[in-house]
Amino acid sequence: MRKLLFAVSTALAVGLVAPVTATASSPQQDLEEFRAYFYNKFPNVPKNDFINGVYSIDKDSRVQWENMEEFPVYEDSVAKGEELFNTPFANGKTYADCLKGGGIGTRQMYPYFDSDTGSIVTLEESINKCRTDNGEKPLKYKKGPIAEISAYIAFTSRGNKFNIKIPDDERALAQYEQGKKQYYMKRGQLNLSCADCHYTNSGSQARSEILSPSLGHVTGFPVFRHQKWGELGTLHRRLGGCNANIRAKPFKAQGDEYKALEYFLSYMSNGLEVNGPSSRK
Ligand code: HEC
Repeated sequence: MRKLLFAVSTALAVGLVAPVTATASSPQQDLEEFRAYFYNKFPNVPKNDFINGVYSIDKDSRVQWENMEEFPVYEDSVAKGEELFNTPFANGKTYADCLKGGGIGTRQMYPYFDSDTGSIVTLEESINKCRTDNGEKPLKYKKGPIAEISAYIAFTSRGNKFNIKIPDDERALAQYEQGKKQYYMKRGQLNLSCADCHYTNSGSQARSEILSPSLGHVTGFPVFRHQKWGELGTLHRRLGGCNANIRAKPFKAQGDEYKALEYFLSYMSNGLEVNGPSSRK
């Protein structure tokens, strides 16, 4: 396993041109460049199909996945999420009372920049804030009830288009730049960045897996991974997994690093439809 991954990193080091990173481009310019890169690299993929991760570019696994999605394994999780969403807190209030827009159909708004606090707010964080504001204990961030509630909210938002805003506020732009930096920064013993695998080498193979394009990477979360997890997990759990794979220490779920990275990745998915939750092999 290790050998193969090193092979990828060596190939990167010797052969391939790294994507442009350090230029002072606006988020809008970045987005156009990002999209154009993937449209050009995968000209046969319909534009909205990038929401389907690796299945947008790999015909063989696509068929199996479509069968999987016909009887989705996450159905029970969505049902549990709905029940949790509708169960009042001890004080009689509900999630609908405190989440932005009542929660239902709102997945595409997250994460957003909060000008009061100057920070990025994710959906999972909002769910926990709702709880603690109403005297309940916060939930753990990577799996379990929080992933179920998030799955239910995503499910009620399917088809809505991601619409992440970077307001004209230097603090928002700084968060975006931080996320972009995370994306292009090489890390871990294998010295690889997100971009090395999911941009420059998207469509190539690492170990036994084909690397999915980053365009549309967030739209399907939370995700039910059959083999690795056997359950539903949040985006930050997945990011932690990708960092661990290159032998980098994962950042904390809902810590500043992954929140900024989520902000960047979600902005890069603007215009694509919410299709969470999804199943993965
Ligand atoms: C060594 C290569 C490698 C690196 C570096 C890497 N990943 Fe991954 N990542 C993978 C593989 C392999 C998978 C599983 C197959 C796939 O969907 O691409 C994956 C899956 C994912 C998924 C799930 C996609 C889906 O549709 O389910 C996301 C999101 C993701 N990576 C984001 C990132 C981010 C963000 C970074 C940087 C912090 C990163 N990855 C770094 C190899 C990598």
